[in-house]
Amino acid sequence: MRSNDVSRLGRSVSAIGQGCWQLGGDWAEVGDDTAQEVLHAAADSGVTFFDTADVYGTGRSERAVGAFLADRKDAGIMVATKMGRLADPHVPEAYNLDNYRRWTDSSRENLGVETLDLVQLHCPPTAAFDIPQMYDDLRTLVAEGRIAKWGVSVETTDEAMRALEEPDLATIQIILNVFRRKPLDRVLPAANAAGVGIIARVPLASGLLSGKYDEHTTFAPEDHRTWNRDGSKMEIGETFAGVPFEVGVEAAREVAAVTPEGWTTAQLSLAWIIAVGAATVIPGASRPQQARDNAAAGSLPGLDEATLAELKRIYDERIAQHVAHRW
Ligand SMILES: NC(=O)c1ccc[n+]([C@@H]2O[C@H](COP(=O)([O-])OP(=O)(O)OC[C@H]3O[C@@H](n4cnc5c(N)ncnc54)[C@H](OP(=O)(O)O)[C@@H]3O)[C@@H](O)[C@H]2O)c1
Repeated sequence: MRSNDVSRLGRSVSAIGQGCWQLGGDWAEVGDDTAQEVLHAAADSGVTFFDTADVYGTGRSERAVGAFLADRKDAGIMVATKMGRLADPHVPEAYNLDNYRRWTDSSRENLGVETLDLVQLHCPPTAAFDIPQMYDDLRTLVAEGRIAKWGVSVETTDEAMRALEEPDLATIQIILNVFRRKPLDRVLPAANAAGVGIIARVPLASGLLSGKYDEHTTFAPEDHRTWNRDGSKMEIGETFAGVPFEVGVEAAREVAAVTPEGWTTAQLSLAWIIAVGAATVIPGASRPQQARDNAAAGSLPGLDEATLAELKRIYDERIAQHVAHRW
């Protein structure tokens, strides 16, 4: 497994991490035993970076990661969690010190740690990015020993560029995948120059970029890929990366067609994100075998020019018109 140094974190992270949203809810049910199997499969395959959030199953995902951490104390694992989405209403003013202390205390308990390795603001409203107090209160959490490092999860490249003005920002989590190339223009170069780690989320466009779905595929009723297809319940970019499902299925067939011999299309999609310079890529998994297959993408060779050009063509011709103006 390749690893990448992130100077603002003061450590290196595995090029493939593990997303843990599936282990909480909003997807087809993943049982507690399967959740542990997914986490251990990832760690056994060399993954050292795990991403969760307080809101995933209201602590269920964090508790699963906490139980796993207790079993793997010496595995050099880093856990990133997120806070902010338990605020109701979800307004800029909710990002204040009292809430930060309450949310991080709950995450510390769920994860069973004194100090959280990395806490990310969970896609705050755009207006909040210009409020200096939102960042200053995070510095207070560091001084109090509740958190070691802080980062932001963002929806747009503009939000990422604003957050990059903060000198102690450690990481930016953003949607970056074969169907979402806009971070390549400004965010990746600026973050890498500053030593800020880019955490690439939704790397498989909610599974589309595995190439396994067709126009007739359906998902469980409780799965956001059923109830958020039109973006009416949650930010639409988080479901299929904001790509209309049928458009994504068709484009994924073309990605499958350029997949190198012996690789899966999911592995090609993950290898591309490593190749463009993300610090870590965090695919979610609903089964342990997916975690193993995804981790294996962290030791594949680089992509050749012809494949890179084809992936760009597919994006330019089929996808850009649906996403580039939004995020
Ligand atoms: N706002 C935020 O900060 C935010 C938002 C979204 C996600 N995230 C984080 O990012 C992580 C990744 O994003 P995501 O989970 O939404 O989407 P994703 O990683 O793009 O897609 C995950 C889905 O892809 C399929 N899959 C995974 N590995 C596969 C493989 N090897 N072969 C075939 N199919 C595979 C599975 O679908 P099936 O279940 O259908 O098999 C899985 O549920 C999350 O888990 C979470 O930690 C953060």
